[in-house]
Amino acid sequence: MAKKTVADIDVKGKKVLMRVDFNVPQDDNGNITSDDRIVKALPTIKNVLDRGGALILMSHLGRPEGARDDAYTLKPVAQRLSELLGKKVIFANDCVGPDAKAKAKALKPGDVLLLENLRFYKEEVIKDKAAKEDAQLRQAKDKFAKELASMADIYVDDAFGTAHRDNASMYTVPAVMEGKPRVIGFLIEKELQFLGDTVTNPQRPFVAILGGKKVSDKIGVIENLIPKVNRIIIGGAMAYTFLKARGKAIGESLCEEDFMPKALQLLDQAAEAGCEVMLPPDHVVVRKLEPGAEHRIAVGDIDPTWQAVDIGPMAAKEYAAKIVNARTIVWNGPMGVFEIPPFDQGTKAIAQAVAKATGKGAKSVVGGGDSASAIEQLGLQDKISHISTGGGASLEFLEGKKFKAIEILDEK
Ligand code: 3PG
Repeated sequence: MAKKTVADIDVKGKKVLMRVDFNVPQDDNGNITSDDRIVKALPTIKNVLDRGGALILMSHLGRPEGARDDAYTLKPVAQRLSELLGKKVIFANDCVGPDAKAKAKALKPGDVLLLENLRFYKEEVIKDKAAKEDAQLRQAKDKFAKELASMADIYVDDAFGTAHRDNASMYTVPAVMEGKPRVIGFLIEKELQFLGDTVTNPQRPFVAILGGKKVSDKIGVIENLIPKVNRIIIGGAMAYTFLKARGKAIGESLCEEDFMPKALQLLDQAAEAGCEVMLPPDHVVVRKLEPGAEHRIAVGDIDPTWQAVDIGPMAAKEYAAKIVNARTIVWNGPMGVFEIPPFDQGTKAIAQAVAKATGKGAKSVVGGGDSASAIEQLGLQDKISHISTGGGASLEFLEGKKFKAIEILDEK
């Protein structure tokens, strides 16, 4: 059943506690390098403010170790949000405690308060499984969630990027707010609609493009997609576990030896289901992975002292030819070591092919930081049907997993 959204409830004069995912990339000086996640939360934020609600925003940033660490402060985010909204964003130096409480209490309709990084508290990331087995952890997580919840009348979840986590702010806060409105925001609504429709009602050919380092990270998604898609295109280091399992020489390329039997099993499963799996026929290889490294193209087998860092030009061409004729495309993960040019060429060729297919009417959904930044770098954002704000979350969605943080929220 569909979840209630913020549009279904009255927010006038109410304090609205909204979980957002402002876990934005930053450079070494703390400058935000992409504000995409902030921009995409604006429709829900503005909707609440325009209808006379007062907002208390909460988020994590990075993975601090459960204690205050100024390298992970949300202050630059408050600044950016204030520029985007064109109004003052009040900042609380702590997400709980007297300062946060006093600032939340003083909010007037139309005011915005951003709380400091939730992950400065270890309670935020206590896993529910651990909490179930240990009463002290359970109490600590509940107490933290109750403190957050005590500041508000309404809970809104618009943090799609964190939807696969059972963090206190994602699951325990709405759990302790039972009886009060607990709804999703417009970003989550859009992500669920797009990802859901794409997988359940695909136009064919339906092509999945999967990249990244590890096969072990993608087993769930491959298993879930085999019966649904016509073709799985594989790139990135994960391709070499498949290729070695098939008896190819891969030199020094990354390989998860323990997962070779599973890789073979997945290839068999795909063959039985009539799902074609494409692996790269050629590779960009180096002796040492570093910027400016001497590189060459290896066709088929890779010599012993060389390692693959990107799909080769033949692979890029073959993959692109299949992609441009697809009607539905999901893409997660880079084709090579995207962060070190020129080993970003394979990923960029795929980004261009996905954009071209979309221009011809295909529906395309892209998730994962590197795939999304390849698209951004090429200025192709507007030529993709949907770029998800969730990397891990969109992957788990494609695995067919349910998100308990969303399931607990109110139904329409
Ligand atoms: C992400 O960037 O994928 C989300 O913000 C979740 O972050 P996490 O993997 O640290 O929980």
